[in-house]
Amino acid sequence: MAVVASQVRLRPTMLSDLDFVTSVEQDQQNRPFITPWERTQHEGAVRFPDFRHFIVEAGAGTEPAGFVILQGCRNPNASVELKRIVLQPKGRGLGRACVRLLKQMAFRDLHAHRFWLDVKTLNTRAQALYASEGFVEEGRLRESVRAGDGWDSLIVMSMLDREYQARVALGEEL
Ligand SMILES: CC(C)(COP(=O)(O)OP(=O)(O)OC[C@H]1O[C@@H](n2cnc3c(N)ncnc32)[C@H](O)[C@@H]1OP(=O)(O)O)[C@@H](O)C(=O)NCCC(=O)NCCS
Repeated sequence: MAVVASQVRLRPTMLSDLDFVTSVEQDQQNRPFITPWERTQHEGAVRFPDFRHFIVEAGAGTEPAGFVILQGCRNPNASVELKRIVLQPKGRGLGRACVRLLKQMAFRDLHAHRFWLDVKTLNTRAQALYASEGFVEEGRLRESVRAGDGWDSLIVMSMLDREYQARVALGEEL
């Protein structure tokens, strides 16, 4: 059953959430697609104003469904990064709802000029999500991350403020 954006909430991560955050990162379903952080890196992201670290809640309950991190919230070039998104219930529309909320936060609240991310080439699910939400491929960082005994490349994708506003005008955003 699809989750609608209005049923998804982002609340600031607390230090007491970090056991959950690190366990979700280490989950074998998620680990291949991200580069897990040390707990201290998450502590830094919770505390430093350049980051926004959120727990995702969905539906009626307050059980955490995942977490997201924005970086560059004080970037002088107004270039904000979707640093991480990890959700435990998959394929229920939660990812799309979160990406829409995060675009709104980046462009409306943080006044981003550019909202960007990178995604591993093996992560076809996330690529499909970002492309269908209007992110444009900028280029590839060839063989820039380890993948098993070999390497994977990172695809850099972004959306610009004017592209977001055009989507808002077309009713494609929140
Ligand atoms: C990537 C992730 C955030 C997406 O969230 P999600 O809730 O599973 O995604 P949604 O249900 O909103 O699906 C969004 C789109 O992804 C694509 N998608 C979903 N499941 C897919 C699959 N198994 N294979 C390919 N594409 C898939 C579809 O295009 C889908 O849109 P549609 O259902 O309208 O066709 C989530 O799966 C996740 O946390 N994955 C592990 C960590 C990760 O990869 N993080 C991103 C790192 S860049």
